[in-house]
Amino acid sequence: MDRAIITTEDGSNTLYIPDLNEPYHSIHGAIQESIHVFIKAGIVHYGQKNIRILEAGFGTGLNAFLTLMEARENQRNVVFHTFEKYPLTPDEVEQLNYPDHFAPENASLFARLHNAPWNEDVVVTPYFTLHKHKADFEEVNFQEYFDIVFFDAFAPDVQPRLWTEDMFAKFYKALKPEGILTTYCVKGTVKRALRNLGFKLKRLPGPPGKREMLRGEKI
Ligand SMILES: C[S@@+](CC[C@H](N)C(=O)[O-])C[C@H]1O[C@@H](n2cnc3c(N)ncnc32)[C@H](O)[C@@H]1O
Repeated sequence: MDRAIITTEDGSNTLYIPDLNEPYHSIHGAIQESIHVFIKAGIVHYGQKNIRILEAGFGTGLNAFLTLMEARENQRNVVFHTFEKYPLTPDEVEQLNYPDHFAPENASLFARLHNAPWNEDVVVTPYFTLHKHKADFEEVNFQEYFDIVFFDAFAPDVQPRLWTEDMFAKFYKALKPEGILTTYCVKGTVKRALRNLGFKLKRLPGPPGKREMLRGEKI
């Protein structure tokens, strides 16, 4: 499937799939959205020093990159598992400008996230261990192992199969009790599916350009 690089309103770029009319991040600001939905409403809210994260959709690696920097700044030990079925090409990675928005020494770390081999633990920094699963979300199969789920699939209108109760059940099972799931999506069917599984939901103000986002806690 064709993908193009586009620039979002905060100057950071992202990928866009013309056939689906679907960007990888909010066009109102990719970095702003990731910081808001996943770093602040996820990691900072959770607040622990030792955190295991499970991400649906490695994509551009932006969430992983921001998490790595957050972990270093606040001396958290983060183990980050992420599932991705359609990895970026080296040429696409090369065109992403995320490191330009931070201190220059971070550029090599961003590259290391993408160069890390698939399907094994890779210690990227003393605070951040990465495990990229080259696999479909269907294959998520963990038992009460993770503290936080970053649910960052394409929108439900584009990929409805990924937002069903059956799919969320895999992520619910993967979370420890009191673990949390954050997502940018507040669609009614998504909220119902999450509630049916036992998530306690909180609607939060969304990132620039979006009214709301969602955080669920496993109870
Ligand atoms: C919204 S983008 C992810 C954004 C990503 N977190 C980032 O920071 O760039 C959704 C991602 O899910 C991946 N994806 C789509 N369907 C998938 C599936 N069935 N299994 C695994 N990954 C999938 C896409 O290739 C894409 O990278």
